Amino acid sequence: MQRLAPALRKDNVPLDLISLIKTILAATKEISFRVSQAHLSGLMGSTLDENIQGEVQKKLDVVANELFKDILLESGFVKAISSEEEDSSVAGDENGKYIVSFDPLDGSSNIDINSLIGTIFSIHQAPADMDASDPNMFKQAGNKQVCAGYVLYGPSTMLVMTTGSGTHFYVLDRTHGGYLQVERNVQVPQDTQEFAINMSNQRFWQQPMQNYINDLLAGDTGPRGKNFNMRWIAAMVGDIHRVLCRGGLFTYPADNKNPEKPYKLRLMYEANPMSFLLEQAGGLAMTSQGRIMDIEPTDIHQRVEVIMGSKNEVQACLAYYQ
Ligand code: F6P
Ligand code: MN
Repeated sequence: MQRLAPALRKDNVPLDLISLIKTILAATKEISFRVSQAHLSGLMGSTLDENIQGEVQKKLDVVANELFKDILLESGFVKAISSEEEDSSVAGDENGKYIVSFDPLDGSSNIDINSLIGTIFSIHQAPADMDASDPNMFKQAGNKQVCAGYVLYGPSTMLVMTTGSGTHFYVLDRTHGGYLQVERNVQVPQDTQEFAINMSNQRFWQQPMQNYINDLLAGDTGPRGKNFNMRWIAAMVGDIHRVLCRGGLFTYPADNKNPEKPYKLRLMYEANPMSFLLEQAGGLAMTSQGRIMDIEPTDIHQRVEVIMGSKNEVQACLAYYQ
């Protein structure tokens, strides 16, 4: 098993990017510890605040955000950061070469039930000609990411990351405090009999998604001619991790539950990094209209429809929209 830095050097990752990744991982180790101690240190439950997206912040959301933000901004490697828990981007070092978008703790509803949560991050090059305080730096498509990953705080603390040379798995080895590579070039099976969707929204979906899911539910007596199983962890990190491990289709489709908010997941720190990881593992990551990573962002908190996972199943789903 290879340690992280030599594994990254083997993939020709620039040294300054390796340093930034190590900084990010230092933050995740601290978050991993805080998560494991949360109940003992009074960090369960919510704050009295909402974030800019109108979501109630959990105490651990805030702690994870502060930790991640401070460590990154002090590192000197980043020109700015943007986070699910910050209204706007936050300036770092004018000479920093990178910008980082992150969801400090994805799957917040799992915090209080001691279930799967994780940190998602996405790294772009910082435009040299823009001021560190200019949030427009973040308006870069997902196809320009130089690194994306997530850390799962599960039975083991696990890093899943790509720098554009495949998607690799690492596990935090607490005996020496570092991440070790446990799997290289993970491949998502092209076919699957498993899907992940919040079924309680069914009546709010557009007709093509209703038709597609109805056909999956019809199983071997329906047009698909095979039975499907459903899984829903309610944390995108957990659901995407399962898809990376054994295939599947994950979707958070458009819905008209709240006409002002047709999509749930955020492009910059949820959809884009997961798309990069899945595509690097041979999967597909789409909206019903096209490739997620080709979307030119207009806002750091913009939301997007997500249909991703095993290639053939994503294509089968998209066929319902044609
Ligand atoms: O960050 C948003 C998120 O928590 C995702 O991790 C997850 O996939 C989704 O929301 C769960 O949403 P729902 O409330 O529909 O289960
Ligand atoms: Mn999230």
